[in-house]
Amino acid sequence: MINSLSEFKVTSAQAKENPDTFWSEIASEFQWKSPWKQTLDFDFSKPEIKWFVGGKLNITENCLDRYIETQPNKTAILFEPNDPTETAQHISYKKLHKRVCQTANMLKANGAKKGDRICIYMPMVPELAIAVLACARIGAIHSVVFAGFSATALAARINDASCSMLLTADGGFRGSKTIALKEIADEALVSCSTVNCCLVLQRTQQEVQWNSTDKWWHEELEKVDDNCPVEVMDSEDPLFILYTSGSTGKPKGMVHTCGGYMVYTAYTFKNVFQCQPNDVYWCTADIGWITGHSYIVYGPLANGATSVMFEGVPSYPAFDRFWEVCAKHKITHFYTAPTAIRALEKHPTSLVEKHDLSSLKVLGSVGEPINAEAWHWYDEHVGKHNCPIVDTWWQTETGGILISSLAGVTPQKPTFATLPMPGVQAVLLNNEGDEIEGEGEGILAIKHPWPSIARTIWGDYERYKNVYFSAYPGYYFPGDGALRDAEGNYRITGRVDDVVIVSGHNLGTAPIENAINEHSEVVESAVVGFPHDIKGNALCAYVIVRDMGVDSSTIEKEIREEVAKTIGPIAKPDRILVVSGLPKTRSGKIMRRILRKLAAGEHDQLGDISTLLNPEIVEEIKRQNS
Ligand code: PRX
Repeated sequence: MINSLSEFKVTSAQAKENPDTFWSEIASEFQWKSPWKQTLDFDFSKPEIKWFVGGKLNITENCLDRYIETQPNKTAILFEPNDPTETAQHISYKKLHKRVCQTANMLKANGAKKGDRICIYMPMVPELAIAVLACARIGAIHSVVFAGFSATALAARINDASCSMLLTADGGFRGSKTIALKEIADEALVSCSTVNCCLVLQRTQQEVQWNSTDKWWHEELEKVDDNCPVEVMDSEDPLFILYTSGSTGKPKGMVHTCGGYMVYTAYTFKNVFQCQPNDVYWCTADIGWITGHSYIVYGPLANGATSVMFEGVPSYPAFDRFWEVCAKHKITHFYTAPTAIRALEKHPTSLVEKHDLSSLKVLGSVGEPINAEAWHWYDEHVGKHNCPIVDTWWQTETGGILISSLAGVTPQKPTFATLPMPGVQAVLLNNEGDEIEGEGEGILAIKHPWPSIARTIWGDYERYKNVYFSAYPGYYFPGDGALRDAEGNYRITGRVDDVVIVSGHNLGTAPIENAINEHSEVVESAVVGFPHDIKGNALCAYVIVRDMGVDSSTIEKEIREEVAKTIGPIAKPDRILVVSGLPKTRSGKIMRRILRKLAAGEHDQLGDISTLLNPEIVEEIKRQNS
């Protein structure tokens, strides 16, 4: 673990100078079935990236087996249920190992084998983490789909990866609601011919329909024992697929591999959070997102830490739930999203003060830029000016944190993610693709691979190449803009493509437009983001309808329903404006820049609109907006 600023500087310099030696030393701290022959083999121009080439391992051996000897009774997963009156579960490393092995055997008994894709559509209960690890143990590739996605979105993801199995639950608790997961899964499976087995966990005990491929999880588990040797995996074998939105309609199934992902998530967890043996670490994300994969499951467990899993929401039963849980479990590390902080900041601070938060040592932020107000509220009311805040910048594609301070070790700076991790060569580029030296603002890019960079998009290598490696040859292009101060600290300024981060969720505008265009009355639509108090960004949809005389409130309602059905409730636009046209260039391209300014109310910052094909439409939208 890096313990001081000077050590950080030396380590970063060494990692830059000789990345192979640096990562090779870190990787040798893990258990390998056989060692790698070459640390890194890469060519960004192809692109082709391989880490720890020829090495053999199983990530679950590193997360579980090696700890059952040294700390069998330490809590690995601490589960806090949605309902605060339901007892929390402390699952020790020994118990977790046993349950993962048994679940792995259940998967095998139902036909799963190495290389198969298994879709997981489950609530935030321990069995979700166990299912993920069980897949990894047998070498099946997990594809977790966030339980807030709709049947259409679930089916698209299952079909894209040709999953042979679906793991789900009867339902999930979420605040005062229950979500009928099995019902949604049933609807999805109608169009998924590759799935031949659906294992259903009982969580809510609600009534469910039963199909010929369905089996109860608890019944299947009873049929198998808990002896499950690990499947030996190649370092570059896929570990999982996780879908993220892109600028075009189809979601991108990012593929992460066993060796590099393990080494990098474990290394960054250890150094960013600086967790000590008796600490209790809580990341509030859902395992349906990359944050949950890397920093609830794999990173913490690979370090033998105690990782909290929370089933509920920050507002249930009241807006002090986070703080109540922190006090109850004496949380030392609390890692959440700016959108949650902004939502909680709107409530009286007495809700925070009534709980004893003295156990807290480190706070974290992830998923979107954290604004100064939220940063200071977090620092003052939650951290009591006593806890370093790590603002961690990374992506589904990067697998692990690329830019962040190290808690209490490197300096923090409000609203800045600060410095790249050792081994991460971040640069700023201008529009011509030239590197900017020193202070400046531009496009963020990464010059050299790190071990957990996604290796491809499942089934679409060309798209992987085009999206991430073609815009600026020789660099990985994440799609974010950034500015850099004189000390080299990075502040992420936001997306430079058509992805909008809403409440920390990465949403492509194209799939939302496609969903809106499904409405029979809609001729054309354009979706853009605009600044929002709590969500960071919200969505505004400009919609042209066939008959301008129709009742716009009915259309708006139907459009929201259509989006919820096709993608999920998170993608519903906040504002829908029925317009008679969209500002276009003479070549017919929609001027999204102008639509963004209009949605943000920046009517006087539109620039020259005289070259538009239809400048009069801008005046019309302005009138509608005011
Ligand atoms: O725009 C950046 C933003 O979230 C994007 C990645 O989203 P996703 O793949 O869903 O992963 C989210 C969790 C890692 C990035 O391209 N983002 C993420 N973290 C930060 C951030 N923007 C600013 N500051 C951050 N700390």
